Amino acid sequence: MPDTPPPDAARRNFLRGTAASGASIGLLSGCAPMAATTAAATGRAANAERTTTATAANVAAGAWATIHLTVNNKPRTLTVEPRTTLVDALRDTLGLTGTKIGCNHGQCGACTVLVDSRRSNSCLMLAVSVDGAKITTIEGLAGPDGALHPMQLAFAEKDAFQCGYCTPGQIISAVACIEEGHAGSAAEIREYMSGNLCRCAAYPNIVAAVEMVRDARKG
Ligand code: FES
Ligand code: FES
Repeated sequence: MPDTPPPDAARRNFLRGTAASGASIGLLSGCAPMAATTAAATGRAANAERTTTATAANVAAGAWATIHLTVNNKPRTLTVEPRTTLVDALRDTLGLTGTKIGCNHGQCGACTVLVDSRRSNSCLMLAVSVDGAKITTIEGLAGPDGALHPMQLAFAEKDAFQCGYCTPGQIISAVACIEEGHAGSAAEIREYMSGNLCRCAAYPNIVAAVEMVRDARKG
């Protein structure tokens, strides 16, 4: 008899992959409820083109800025247009597309990253404003050996997402929620995770995942 994993195990493996990188989000391009508007997408495409065509000449002319970031523990030097947002710099310039853009207006939390250990809506920050900062994205949570962060494992274990679009931001925010000491109860978790919206309404499972990691840390 073929060694086929039970349906539940197969789904769990799929979810692990999504929690790790958001790689499956491409499947959602036609249905993501918080997908950026056409205008915003057009603006990002234009920004990506401007970013990739940066040259020493236009930097010297003052049209571009060079900034230094530590992204997921690696030093990175970027040349960006001064109005480039942090999320666009991460996604378009560095190719770290695990961080998602939902509303692009600071209202959904899909773009949450850690900036000097503080969770931040990267769609609201100019890249030049965080010059010198340490940034952690969902790609940076796994260990050097590729082992998933306990919060990524907990999201998979608790089935804490459906489409997965909000998940990278939820996981980054959940890690910070515990670090901040704001995970004392389900009600407190809900309050301090309230900046991260989930259109699939996976909230009970997200709370369960945060509680799981919190309790494991207590030993
Ligand atoms: S994309 Fe919604 S808060 Fe940044
Ligand atoms: S928006 Fe679909 S899992 Fe949160």
